[in-house]
Amino acid sequence: MTYARIAGIGSFLPEKVVSNKDLEKTMDTSDEWIRERTGIKRRHVVVDGETTSSIGLIAAQRAMADAGLGPEDIDLIVVGTATPDKVFPSTACIIQRQLGVRGSPAFDVHAACSGFVYGLDLANRYIVTGGAKTALVIGSETLSRITNWEDRGTAVLFGDGAGAVVLTASEEPGILATHIHADGEYEELLHVPSGVSVGYDETRAGRAFIEMNGNAVFKRAVATFDNIARETIADLDGHIDNVDWFIPHQANMRIIKAAAKKLGLPMDRVIATVDEHANTSGASIPLALDQAVRDGRIKRGDMLMFAAFGAGFTWGSAMLKY
Ligand code: UT7
Repeated sequence: MTYARIAGIGSFLPEKVVSNKDLEKTMDTSDEWIRERTGIKRRHVVVDGETTSSIGLIAAQRAMADAGLGPEDIDLIVVGTATPDKVFPSTACIIQRQLGVRGSPAFDVHAACSGFVYGLDLANRYIVTGGAKTALVIGSETLSRITNWEDRGTAVLFGDGAGAVVLTASEEPGILATHIHADGEYEELLHVPSGVSVGYDETRAGRAFIEMNGNAVFKRAVATFDNIARETIADLDGHIDNVDWFIPHQANMRIIKAAAKKLGLPMDRVIATVDEHANTSGASIPLALDQAVRDGRIKRGDMLMFAAFGAGFTWGSAMLKY
């Protein structure tokens, strides 16, 4: 049997850091409120000249170096992003060019915070059916570009960053199960109401910003994390004890803790980076994964479970042996 196995991981965080204290100076908020309600202490943000493709490129190069593979080896590129450089071409095509990869399919997956898990699901299907041997799956976001810095309800929550994995076809177990879902019923609870086709609100000077009903999204996120994790475990005929590390999408520490509690997982088996990275949407899982591999917590052979939830609503999970 052929599996898609993680051969390399990489990530990149922009150098500029904005702390909660920095935000206190520009809006009616406090470090205490942000830490208590979200667990976030700081976030990285891009500066002029940095883009979703430029930070995604670095994460991809690091993942390829980690795998010991070059551009000639890559035969599929999928980028999970809600903040593409341009309407077209896709951010995947821009990164493909910069990597020096030629001819492989390259496309973006737009599933908001579930973008990386959606990308992983797709790349896994390509690999197990023989459509690709080596796939690059990238989650890259510049959410600061669609953040309304005058709205304290959303501005304190988001950050920028990128993470990537190289998946290779292998006889050894890698990805064991993936599930992805969506329910468009909840569009208005978390969305960017303006854009290319619906048009732009003139009062916002042609800019598009995130709007969210935080409370409603919070409740839905907690319930969904529990359901998707259980679905993945059931699919494997397994038990939560088989999971060495749970890596959920990093939106809010309270959501992460609630999900872990419902699953009966102690927090020392949960990777949480939301304190340092804030919510980086499609980049949050590969960023957390890379950090935990680099600091030695996650080791080869460990069983990992990813779970994501985001605008759409979209959600998804993956169970894999690292
Ligand atoms: O990435 C996937 C999707 N996103 C999420 O999963 C995010 C889900 N939602 C959340 O994480 C939380 O709902 C928030 C962190 C956004 C908000 O936390 P909350 O506990 O739901 O607070 P709230 O919206 O009920 O607001 C409580 C109070 C309000 O004041 P009043 O009405 O009680 O006087 C807000 O106006 O906190 C106020 N508030 C703030 N105060 C200081 C809202 N934002 C801030 C702020 N600083 N930044």
